[in-house]
Amino acid sequence: MIDLSKFSCRRERFLAQLGGKAAIIPAASLVTHHADCDYPFRQDSDFWYLTGFDEPDAIALFLPHRAIGEKFILFVRPKEPVLEVWNGFRWGIEGAMSEFGADCAHSINDFSKLLSPYLKGAEAIAFRIGKSSSIEQIVLKAWAQELDNVQRIGIPSIPLVDPSPILHQLRLFKDSFELARMREAVSISAKAHEFVRSKTHPGMNERELQAIIEKYFLDNGARGPGYGSIVASGDNACVLHYTQNNSPLCDGDLVLIDAGCSLHDYYNGDITRTFPVNGHFSNEQRALYEVVLVAQKAALASVVEGTDAEAIHLIAVRLLVEGLVDLGLLKGQVDSLIEQGAYKHLYMHRTGHWLGLDVHDVGAYRLGEYPVPLEPGMVLTVEPGIYVSDRIPVPDGQPSIKDRWKGIGIRIEDDVLVTKDGPEVLSLEAVKDIAELEF
Ligand code: GLY
Ligand code: MN
Ligand code: MN
Repeated sequence: MIDLSKFSCRRERFLAQLGGKAAIIPAASLVTHHADCDYPFRQDSDFWYLTGFDEPDAIALFLPHRAIGEKFILFVRPKEPVLEVWNGFRWGIEGAMSEFGADCAHSINDFSKLLSPYLKGAEAIAFRIGKSSSIEQIVLKAWAQELDNVQRIGIPSIPLVDPSPILHQLRLFKDSFELARMREAVSISAKAHEFVRSKTHPGMNERELQAIIEKYFLDNGARGPGYGSIVASGDNACVLHYTQNNSPLCDGDLVLIDAGCSLHDYYNGDITRTFPVNGHFSNEQRALYEVVLVAQKAALASVVEGTDAEAIHLIAVRLLVEGLVDLGLLKGQVDSLIEQGAYKHLYMHRTGHWLGLDVHDVGAYRLGEYPVPLEPGMVLTVEPGIYVSDRIPVPDGQPSIKDRWKGIGIRIEDDVLVTKDGPEVLSLEAVKDIAELEF
C-alpha cells in the first residue's frame, strides 16, 4: 500500500508555490487500443505526484485562495456497482476524501457546474492547455466567465498560466522517499539485465529476451516495463527506438537491450546494456565498445554538483570523437569535428535525460541561455553510444565506412543520482566491463 502522507507534503509545497493561483490538474484518461479495447491505464505523472490516486477521469483542484479545509478538491468517477463489475473497483467520492485526503470531493460529472464557483477569488488559473480538449473547453468557459465578470466590475483580468514550471521544478528534485523508490526500480531493472544476459545464446529470438526481462520485472514486484523494451540485435541496434523485437540472434552479433521497469507508484529504471550474443566480442565490436565505455565512464564521473547536462554531453562527445578518429571512422581535428557536428552520423542523440515518474522526466535543462546546474537530489541517465550503419550519409570530407564496421550499434546507459559527495550510480548491479560480459 502506498504511503499517502508523502502526497500531502507535496501538495503543501505546491500550494505554497502557487501563491494565489488556482491550479487544475487532470488525471489521464483511458486510451483506445482498438475497437472497444483500451491500453492498460497509465496515470498522468503530475496528477499522480500530487494525489496518489490511480484512476482515470479525475481532476484535482488546488485552491490556495480558499480557507483551510477547502484547498484540495478531487473530482472522481462516482461509485457505480454495475460498471465496477465490468471494469473494476472505484474509490468514489467518499473514498477520495477518506483515503486520499481531499478536503472535498465531487463526481467528475459535476466538474463543469462547480468549477466557476471554486475559481472565484483566484488571482490566476493555472492549467496546461493542449492535453485534454474536453476538460480544456470547460476550463476556458469558466475563464471566459471570469473575464466577463472582471469587465463588468472593472478589476484587472485574471491570466491563464501554465502550472508546469512550478510542478516540474518540484518533481526535478527527488526526496529520500522518492530516491528509495527509484533505487528499487533501478535495482530490479539492473538485476533483470543480468538475468536476461545469463539466458542469452545464439538462435534465440529478440522477443524471447523481451519476454525474459519483462517477466523478471513482474516476478519482482514491478508493474511492468516503464517504456517499450528495446531488444535489438546486430544492425537493429542502429535504430534508436527499435521495438519490433522480432529478429533471431545471430552468432557473432551484439545485442542491445534498453529496458527498465516501472513500479506500482510509477518510478522507473532506464538501463541499456550491449553484449555479444555468443559471449565473445569481435575485434571491431570490442574496439567500438571500448570507446563507448570510456566515454560513458568519464561522463558518469562528471555528474557532480554545479556541472550541467550540456557539459556532460560534451565530455562524452569528445571521447567518442577521439576514439572514432583513432579507429579511422572519423578524420580531422577533434575540436573542429565537434564544432561541425561531423560525428552525428555515428552518434546522433543526447547523452542523457532526467529520470523519475516519467522515463524522460520533467524539468528544464536550460533556463534561457543558462544551463540548469546539477544539484543533489536530481537523477539523470548517462547513455552515450555509437551506431555504425549506412542510414545517414557520411558527411563530406569524412571517411566512407568499411563493411566490417557496419551493423554495430552500442549504447551503455546508467541511472545516476547527484549527491553532494559526487555521482551515485544506481544501476551498478548491471555489469558492463568487457571481461564481465565475455564467457
Ligand atoms: N529508453 C529510452 C531512453 O533511453 O531514453
Ligand atoms: Mn534513457
Ligand atoms: Mn533507455
